[in-house]
Amino acid sequence: MSTLTLTINKQDYQLENLDARTTLLDVCRQHLQITGPKKGCDHGQCGACTMLINGRRVNSCLTLAVMHDGDDITTIEASECQSHYRHCSKRLKTMTLFSADIARLVRFAQRPH
Ligand code: FES
Repeated sequence: MSTLTLTINKQDYQLENLDARTTLLDVCRQHLQITGPKKGCDHGQCGACTMLINGRRVNSCLTLAVMHDGDDITTIEASECQSHYRHCSKRLKTMTLFSADIARLVRFAQRPH
């Protein structure tokens, strides 16, 4: 195999002598240390490996890297989902702390005087 060029998260990567049977997921995780996409089921069922390729959602465990020479690939590290996830995670943490405070108040109110 000759040189493969992948654009992942707006950064170009050149891969030499890549085994043509290597999946896009394995290239990201094992060759490029892009570990946001996970290998869950490795059978296209869980979606943990999802990437956007030219704007379309793809299970990267089911597609060969050589099929995506020159494609624009976005992983969870760069997607808008990541910032949305961080926002939700922060709010969830705040809500959890708030509900812990409420539980503490309820326990305080219920204790025998
Ligand atoms: S690893 Fe589960 S769909 Fe790809």
